[in-house]
Amino acid sequence: MTAQDPAAAGHVQKGLEGVVVSETQLSDVDGARCQLIYRGYEIGELVGKAAYEEVSFLLLNGHLPSRTELADWTEQLVTRRALSPDIIQLMEQLPFGNPMAYLRSVISIMGLADSCAEDLSPQALRERALDLIAKTPTLITLFDRLRHKRSMLGPRPDLGHAANFLFMLHGEEPDPEFAKALDAYFVLLAEHGFNASTFAARTAVATQSDFYSGITAALGTLKGPLHGAANTKAMEMLMEIGSPDQVEPYVQKTLSDHKRFMGFGHRVYKGEDPRAKHLKHFSHQMGAARGELQWFEISERLQDAVWQAKKLYINVDFYSASLLYYLRIPVDLFTPMFACARTAGWAAHILEQLGDNRLIRPLALYVGPRDLKFAPLDQRSA
Ligand code: SDX
Repeated sequence: MTAQDPAAAGHVQKGLEGVVVSETQLSDVDGARCQLIYRGYEIGELVGKAAYEEVSFLLLNGHLPSRTELADWTEQLVTRRALSPDIIQLMEQLPFGNPMAYLRSVISIMGLADSCAEDLSPQALRERALDLIAKTPTLITLFDRLRHKRSMLGPRPDLGHAANFLFMLHGEEPDPEFAKALDAYFVLLAEHGFNASTFAARTAVATQSDFYSGITAALGTLKGPLHGAANTKAMEMLMEIGSPDQVEPYVQKTLSDHKRFMGFGHRVYKGEDPRAKHLKHFSHQMGAARGELQWFEISERLQDAVWQAKKLYINVDFYSASLLYYLRIPVDLFTPMFACARTAGWAAHILEQLGDNRLIRPLALYVGPRDLKFAPLDQRSA
């Protein structure tokens, strides 16, 4: 496509904004109605009612599981939570740097160690999907324990996905209400259409590369503050504000510095992110249970002030911040938490892409120079 072609210039949609590139049966992210649907269920039908185990089954299998199917699925997840001694030994050697870089690296090593990683049969892909959904909580919590020189805690087969996460992180069985709030978080962040990290996963596997390459491409993409790292930045913003009466000065300074409010705005939603009200509910519930409602109060005040100033809506990362903080998740682990939830969505998209594959290769409009002639080195200007 050349710049001389006047029609070409009109075709450039920077950031693929508004461009429909594929069909999907996994979710509908309806920007106009501000609605999110997983496989036919509006998200409000699922959150607080279906556990993450059920929702991950729904995303990968297309229907909510029967009792028998759920028992089998849960059993498969539970038996896959533990890490191999080789992987644990490797994890102990890695630098405990950026948590998302660490998670991306370990999963890449798991792919290297998997002699059947290149098997793209639906059965093999489903095996790997189950494996990573089950193991990602163990990877994240072990990373935290190793970096703080705490003894490793194995997964508890008697605890559900969310409760087991909190057990492995904190070393004690969680309050059921806290586990329920984390489960709701996992359900709300499990899937979200062709967001940047999911699109990266689909692009990677569309070349017939392997499952782990898809997941590591997604992890590397989610790591950015415009996407998955916004939750960490949002919590840092709340901490910088410090108290509700400092919200207004913060908003004015952010506006005058032309900076962004983390946890606000969305490429697709033209109104409030449909997940936000559920996260707000659980943030308030957990803040009240902790007796630390100031983070919720700062959030609520900030939500109103930014709306007044810029007519910007909150997105999924805004109340995720205070909720994860109330669950005593270390702030630099907030984005790995997002990855933990989204592994089910990424896996489902990898299966969907390879189920009806076409190489993903968009065009670009060349606007650089043309018809230049080669000059030998000694004839080129300094
Ligand atoms: C996620 O895609 C998904 O579905 C992602 C996600 C998922 O579940 O996978 O929903 C998860 O990534 C949510 C988004 C998390 N990111 C943040 O909270 C970071 C802060 N938000 C923004 O940077 C921004 O809103 C984006 C990146 C989310 C969307 O950006 P767009 O669609 O590219 O919009 P834009 O940057 O072109 O902004 C349009 C206007 C601009 O004003 P002008 O410069 O044209 O005058 O709105 C302003 C922006 O300045 N704006 C903001 C803002 N977001 C947009 N101004 C201040 N603060 C913000 N957060």
